[in-house]
Amino acid sequence: MTIEGFASETAKWLEPELGSVFTGKQLDDITVKAALYSLNAGGKRIRPLMMRLTALMTGCGEEKMADVLYYAATLEMIHTYSLIHDDLPAMDNDDLRRGKPTCHKVYGEGIATLAGDLLLNTACERLFKIAIAKPEYLYASYFMCRNAGLEGMVGGQSIDLDSEGKTIDLELLYELQRKKTGALIESAVVTPYYLIKELNGEQAKEDKTACLLKKLSEHIGLSFQIRDDILDVESDPSVLGKNTGKDERDSKATFVTLLGEQGAKDRLSEEIASAKAVLSELGKMGYDTDGYNVLVDYLEKRDS
Ligand code: IPE
Ligand code: IPE
Ligand code: MG
Ligand code: MG
Ligand code: MG
Repeated sequence: MTIEGFASETAKWLEPELGSVFTGKQLDDITVKAALYSLNAGGKRIRPLMMRLTALMTGCGEEKMADVLYYAATLEMIHTYSLIHDDLPAMDNDDLRRGKPTCHKVYGEGIATLAGDLLLNTACERLFKIAIAKPEYLYASYFMCRNAGLEGMVGGQSIDLDSEGKTIDLELLYELQRKKTGALIESAVVTPYYLIKELNGEQAKEDKTACLLKKLSEHIGLSFQIRDDILDVESDPSVLGKNTGKDERDSKATFVTLLGEQGAKDRLSEEIASAKAVLSELGKMGYDTDGYNVLVDYLEKRDS
């Protein structure tokens, strides 16, 4: 299947679940409207797509697939919250996202802040709710929360803002990218396997497949953010759905600002090759890695 095929399958699978998060009278609330504006504005849904790939690759039955969908919608809510806050004037001050005016441009900064808060809180509620019903998912829920916090996305955003206008070393840049983008991608690639195998923390550390999926997610996460940095200088807002030239404008620390465009492209090629090497190890274990190979090829060349 092509990446477009995977993307349209993912959208069909995900959208009804996202549509069921807020219902009835809740839909009259202005913060709910703002959250849904951003959640439904489009977006590649690449993290849910990865969750489907892992689920299908590691042998997911129908019942588990419903739970993978529940977690996929939850992760997309956390991701969308991170974008709403990332675009605020106090952070990256952007006015275009997913081809539309950013949340705060339409609803104002206060409501946009609350919309992000609401998406995160509702995501956490969902993670608790399913773990109450199915205690075997407790670790998976914990893992998704953890990767959104200081050891993950928030921690990366913190280094990102703190590094504006500064020259940082490559080691810190890797940490920044691994956390701000890599952590949610790790949740996407690994969580479905935790659900299927009902792994807890200790088992997850020892399980060979889980370890390889983590390694794969590291290379995918870095590839994804390096390409994002390259697109910021090479792409066009009409294709990308967000403004370009922002990283230079804000003196951000990125692979392009640190290593130049060619340096960033070389790093991207290295990460793609490393991702493929991990896929080949998974292939040797008997997994069908065709879907992930299509995704990795797309990540090297994606233009939006
Ligand atoms: C944008 O993520 C922010 C980064 C982590 C680079 P995506 O490129 O996945 O954004 P959407 O969901 O498609 O809008
Ligand atoms: C943000 O990275 C990643 C998030 C955690 C939201 P960027 O600031 O580079 O993302 P874009 O370029 O605005 O999408
Ligand atoms: Mg940012
Ligand atoms: Mg930004
Ligand atoms: Mg960017």
